[in-house]
Amino acid sequence: MMKTRHLLYFQDSRHLQPVRDKSVHLAVTSPPYPMIAMWDDVFAGMDPRTGEAIQAGDGKTAFELMHCCLDDVWEELWRVMVDGGIACINIGDATRRTGPDFGLYPNHARVLSSLMAIGFTPLPAILWRKPTNAPTKFMGSGMLPAGAYVTLEHEHILVVRKGSRRKFATDREKRIRRESAIFWEERNEWYSDIWLNVIGTRQGMNAGAERKRSAAFPFEIPFRLISMFSVKGDWVIDPFAGTGTTLKAAAILARNCQGFDLDRSLLEAVFGERDTLPGHANAIAAERLRRHREFAATSGNRRRPLKHFNQPYQVPVVTSQEKDLFFNPVLSAERLSADVLEISYLPVPDSVTAVDMEQSSTGQSDDRRGQLKLF
Ligand SMILES: C[S@@+](CC[C@H](N)C(=O)[O-])C[C@H]1O[C@@H](n2cnc3c(N)ncnc32)[C@H](O)[C@@H]1O
Repeated sequence: MMKTRHLLYFQDSRHLQPVRDKSVHLAVTSPPYPMIAMWDDVFAGMDPRTGEAIQAGDGKTAFELMHCCLDDVWEELWRVMVDGGIACINIGDATRRTGPDFGLYPNHARVLSSLMAIGFTPLPAILWRKPTNAPTKFMGSGMLPAGAYVTLEHEHILVVRKGSRRKFATDREKRIRRESAIFWEERNEWYSDIWLNVIGTRQGMNAGAERKRSAAFPFEIPFRLISMFSVKGDWVIDPFAGTGTTLKAAAILARNCQGFDLDRSLLEAVFGERDTLPGHANAIAAERLRRHREFAATSGNRRRPLKHFNQPYQVPVVTSQEKDLFFNPVLSAERLSADVLEISYLPVPDSVTAVDMEQSSTGQSDDRRGQLKLF
C-alpha cells in the first residue's frame, strides 16, 4: 500500500533543524506580510526593533527589519531543498501610512531580491488577481487628482528554483512522473501567469473565523502548485503552515509534507479534518475526471477526436503525457502521534478497477456528482 507522512512542528521556522539538508522537493508558503498591521506583533516577537520602528513612524526601517526576519527562513529553505527543487511564495504588497506619508511597501520585490541573493533562480511568476468589489473602493483623494491611489487587487506567487532543472532519470522516477501528470486542459489554466477566480474555500479547516485570523490562502492555491511543481511521494514543506492548507493539499495529492508554525491552535485544524479527508480527496478526484470527460466529449465534437488514451480511467486525452495519469484514492488518515499524520492510498490499479473506483469514490449518483464544487 502507498503511504505518505505529514509532520507538524510548532517552532520558529527561522530554524528548520529537524529537516535534513537537501531533502525537500517543493516549498509552498505564504509568510506573514511585512507592513500589514495584523502581523506587526508577530514581527515584533521575532525582532523587537520592528515594533520600535513602527512606533517611531519609521516605515522604511520597519520594512527592512521585518524582511531580515523572513530572509532567515529563505536561507533555511535553500539548505533543505534538493537541487532542482522549487519554492513558491505567495506574498502581497502593503500600503500604509507611517509618519506623515502614505506609501507602498513592495514585499514581493524585496522577497525576490533576497531569494536571488541567496542563489535561487527566478522562474516566471503568477499574479493572483483577487476577487474584489473595487469599483466602489478608493484610497486617498477619491475623484480629485492627484492624491488618489490605485487599489491593490492582486498578490504575487513567486516561483524560484534551486540549481538546475530537476532530472527524472530512472524508469521508476519516469513512471511516477507520468502518473503525476495533470490533464491538458488543466495545464492551460494553471500554467497561466494570471490566476483569476481562485477564491477562498468554504470547506473544512479553512472555514469561518479561523480562516480570517490565520489569513489562510484558498485551498486551490497549494493544490495547483503542488500538482504543477512536484510528483507523488515528494517532500513538500510549508514554513508558515497556519491552518495547514498546504499539508492538506499535499495529503490529497499523495505527497509527504512538513509544516512549521508558531501557533499550535491553528495547526490542530489539520488533525480535526482527518476523518473527512478521504471523502474530500476522492470527491475532488471524481470531479476532475467528470470535468475531463465533459471536456473530452465536447472537444472531440468541435475538432478532431482526441488522439490518445488514458489507461487507468479508459478515457481519451489530448497528449501521450496523460496516458498514465492517476489520482490515488485516499483510504485513511491516521494520527500516529501528537504531530504526525499518516495517509494511505490505493496504488495504481488495472484499468477496469480504476473506473469502478472512480464511480464509487463519492458514493453519489452521476447527477449529484455534477453539482460538486472542485474546491
Ligand atoms: C499568512 S499565514 C499562513 C496561512 C497558511 N498559508 C494557511 O493557509 O493557513 C502566516 C503564518 O505564519 C506563522 N508564523 C509567523 N512567523 C512565524 C515563524 N517565525 N515561524 C513559524 N511560523 C510563523 C503565523 O502564525 C501564521 O500562521
